[in-house]
Amino acid sequence: MKNEHGKDQPRQSSENSERHTPKRENIATLCPDLETRNLTYHFPNGMKGLCQVNVSFYKGEFVLLAGRNGSGKTLLARHLVGLLRPTEGAVFFRGAPLPSCLDKARQKVGLVFQDADSQIIGQTIEEELRFGPENLGLPEGEIQSRVESVIHLLGLEHNLLTPPARLSGGEKRRLAIGGILTLQPELLILDEPFANLDYPGIVSVLRLLLHLKDKGIGIVLITHELEKALAHADRLVILEKGRIVEDGPTQAIAPKAGQYGLHPLDFSRTPLETCTWLPR
Ligand SMILES: Nc1ncnc2c1ncn2[C@@H]1O[C@H](COP(=O)(O)OP(=O)(O)OP(=O)(O)O)[C@@H](O)[C@H]1O
Ligand SMILES: [Mg+2]
Repeated sequence: MKNEHGKDQPRQSSENSERHTPKRENIATLCPDLETRNLTYHFPNGMKGLCQVNVSFYKGEFVLLAGRNGSGKTLLARHLVGLLRPTEGAVFFRGAPLPSCLDKARQKVGLVFQDADSQIIGQTIEEELRFGPENLGLPEGEIQSRVESVIHLLGLEHNLLTPPARLSGGEKRRLAIGGILTLQPELLILDEPFANLDYPGIVSVLRLLLHLKDKGIGIVLITHELEKALAHADRLVILEKGRIVEDGPTQAIAPKAGQYGLHPLDFSRTPLETCTWLPR
């Protein structure tokens, strides 16, 4: 069983021994891993990208971040890892403003890009997987052990010398996720990880996310395909025209999804717990 900090703790009684995520009233008293305060972003041409975004992500939470095309999901993700600087407002990593702790934040918070091609820079699968741990200056034994465990986890059993350009879209996406997992992030943001994946690919990514969540890793899953993963989300956040328009427990927010250009879900016919592509 995990305590509210995601650490293992001994079972105490049958009454409180069930695995559960922290209740929202408990979450409110914790320091979030990532937080934006009045985050606003204007493009150089003056167009508004994000407007007064206030959102927090807590340790061990599984958050689904949704919104129609162009609502600002990718822009927000890029701010969360310091790839873009806000025009106004700020991003905080464990209470500290991001620019002051960027290196540490980038070790703990990983972003898997929407477009795998723009993330993968290694000339081979092995080079791509070694890149992150090498950059951290880790010893060779540790680099090899991280690479091996990620290959095992993601089923990337190709020849390690295969150039990524020769992989299929789905295989590239798994490699892009692998390149981030070798950094052993504590919070993982995935921007549309189901894109280009076939059914078994989606199931394997979902299984991986639940496995990571069980290990106490926070997940921010960016998708507009709610029916594939909603059942697993503790919280649903919806963006619309660069603003957060909904943020709350999945059960409370999901019925409103149809108002924001997302696939409307009829919970009288499709109960929330069936909104997953994970086989039963
Ligand atoms: N360089 C730019 N200049 C002006 N507007 C831009 C620029 N780059 C992106 N935008 C606009 O910013 C808005 C938000 O884009 P973003 O990529 O964050 O959307 P998204 O929610 O991730 O959409 P999708 O679901 O299609 O991935 C879009 O309307 C987009 O056209
Ligand atoms: Mg996007």
